[in-house]
Amino acid sequence: ENDLAAKLPLRGKKILITAGPTYEAIDPVRFIGNHSSGKMGYDIAFAAANAGAAVVLISGPTHLQAEHNGIQLIRVTNAQQMYDACHEHFENTDVAIAAAAVSDYRPKVVANQKIKKSDNDLEIVLEKNKDILFSLGEKKTKQFLIGFALETENEIEHAKQKIKKKNLDLIVLNSLNDAGAGFGKPTNKVTFIDKEFTIEPLELKTKEEVAKDIITKIKTHYNV
Ligand code: CTP
Ligand code: CA
Repeated sequence: ENDLAAKLPLRGKKILITAGPTYEAIDPVRFIGNHSSGKMGYDIAFAAANAGAAVVLISGPTHLQAEHNGIQLIRVTNAQQMYDACHEHFENTDVAIAAAAVSDYRPKVVANQKIKKSDNDLEIVLEKNKDILFSLGEKKTKQFLIGFALETENEIEHAKQKIKKKNLDLIVLNSLNDAGAGFGKPTNKVTFIDKEFTIEPLELKTKEEVAKDIITKIKTHYNV
């Protein structure tokens, strides 16, 4: 029993993770998306499952696989579907981690047919998507809630504002400033900021290493 506890410190914990981009349809053949590969979220999912957690991984479109006994993969396409899936699974989750690059906006009208080109410019009106993480922060009871932030200016200040606004326990601030960090890259330069605003910058690390550090934060929270 002690052996198992040491090997699988997150056994009995349920962890919900969002990953990847969202695709917001313009018409049947086009969408608004982003460059998220999903790798950060999938790496966290594997690290959590390897630590014994029961993971629900809610993923936007990616080519990644999540074959692991401890991972239940739910594939979605757009932000509204990701929102619905998250709320379906949030109530009895212990930890929720929002690693997805959710599109902030979606086309207000989705054309039923492929939009034909004309001689004029084309304008697409966008409306706001729901903020999934914000909505989880509102609903949170016992859950340990972790968000990500991507900032290009006033990084720390903006990240702190996100902690407050979204009722987070921890935020993982991603820097695009450093060479080798960010979208499509194997490495990330991240800074952890907790809800007491303790700031902990990490070295440039692989996403797998960052994932392990996030698991360590969760273990520390539960004293395991
Ligand atoms: N997020 C979310 N749902 C959205 C937008 C963002 O769940 N509709 C989550 C992301 O998964 C991330 C965190 O919120 O964990 C911060 O995302 P980010 O894009 O950095 O911040 P925003 O609040 O969207 O603000 P902005 O893009 O204007 O900086
Ligand atoms: Ca955003």
